[in-house]
Amino acid sequence: NTLQKELNKLVLTAPPQTQKTVRTELDGFEKLFSQYLLDNVDSGIDWQEIEPPPEGTVIPYKKLLELPTDDVKDILNRLIVVKLNGGLGTTMGCQGPKSVISVRSGLTFLDLTIQQLEQLNRTYGCDVPLILMNSFNTHEETEKVLQKYFHVSVKIYNFNQSKHPRIDRETMLPIAKSITNSENECWYPPGHGDVYLSFYQSGLLDQFIQQGKEYMFLSNIDNLGATIDLYILKYLLSSEIKHEFVMEVTDKTRADVKGGTLIQYQDKLRLLEIAQVPKEHVDEFKSVSKFRIFNTNNLWINLPAIKRVIEEQALHMEIIVNNKTTDKGVNVIQLETASGAAIKNFEGAIGINVPRRRFLPVKTTSDLLLVMSDLFTLNRGNLVMNPQRSFPSVPLVKLGSSFTKGTVIIIANHGERIDIPQGAILENKIVSGNLRI
Ligand code: UTP
Repeated sequence: NTLQKELNKLVLTAPPQTQKTVRTELDGFEKLFSQYLLDNVDSGIDWQEIEPPPEGTVIPYKKLLELPTDDVKDILNRLIVVKLNGGLGTTMGCQGPKSVISVRSGLTFLDLTIQQLEQLNRTYGCDVPLILMNSFNTHEETEKVLQKYFHVSVKIYNFNQSKHPRIDRETMLPIAKSITNSENECWYPPGHGDVYLSFYQSGLLDQFIQQGKEYMFLSNIDNLGATIDLYILKYLLSSEIKHEFVMEVTDKTRADVKGGTLIQYQDKLRLLEIAQVPKEHVDEFKSVSKFRIFNTNNLWINLPAIKRVIEEQALHMEIIVNNKTTDKGVNVIQLETASGAAIKNFEGAIGINVPRRRFLPVKTTSDLLLVMSDLFTLNRGNLVMNPQRSFPSVPLVKLGSSFTKGTVIIIANHGERIDIPQGAILENKIVSGNLRI
């Protein structure tokens, strides 16, 4: 009740014309918070009840290749592409939205995504729109960058995910006293599980259903392997059983031990994240033999099913509690959800075990080095691994923390070279012509 009062006060601090939106957002937060309190009473997952996904619920990708794909234009016209674009590039030492970092040949994550779609729409004469879910952190800059795309043959839409108040761990109340309080200290985007409700509330879900669109392909904008896959789409649209939710999973290697996995739990497929695993079972969770696959977060979801689940108030996702300390030293909690956790709310949910190439995330500057290297070539927005490489996986690159700091620009004249001496440290430097450190 005290929380409710505080939230009501916050609504009143918003300008009158935005109070309705703020109310809706904070109602969403209140629900999440009540669920958190309930979960604390009836906590966690019963390890003994976890089973591997039953036979037939994780389909090998190879099986889909047998399907003919002759009506490509028709199937593509039933699809929309949604990219999760709420995150910042802080881990890579950048400010601003992660999607505007250039990753290859001067092209950003956003550029590559748009190129891919443009290519598809042109080749097949279809109309696959791109929808970006922004957060209050990324909204403004993304809109600015998108202005240069007004001429492309891809319709681009934006919507914002919610803005939730950070909660003081001691008082269990919002640290914000006004809606205009400094954004980074007091507010946070509540994870990508927010996509369903925010998309619904934006009015875009209804709009696309009315246009006859049937499936959403949802993925992280920083996964360069998350391209539209015609075989998966064809499978979904031609299958006799309606699969309302598909999670692309891939075989786990020792480098992916932390990724969420698909399990069968109380007769439903579920996503199990490391944060939900009791301490004594973490090693078992990480093992490659018991949990063989992990979630790539490439998801295919039926649009009318999203509408139904939301309207029936049947959208439930496990809460991930993120403990943080603000710059001012206040210990806060952030309640978040993950989009893959929605799988259990849908009918006919399955996993598809896809090749590793569909999971090429760029989280760190080490990942960036890989995608910038000649291990890949760029083909119309798609990164293709050099066929000469004998393994489908990438080498392990570990750059030290100094690679996340500062700005270093090295400019060599055409045809000339600059040799950086072994052991040299470059920090906030522009190097051109002769190297002087
Ligand atoms: P992250 O980089 O935060 O997640 O976001 P991760 O390390 O892959 O781990 P998971 O997937 O959360 O387990 C993944 C994608 O989701 C977006 C980011 O921009 C990125 O594309 N994202 C994340 C949002 O759009 N909103 C959020 O609140 C969080």
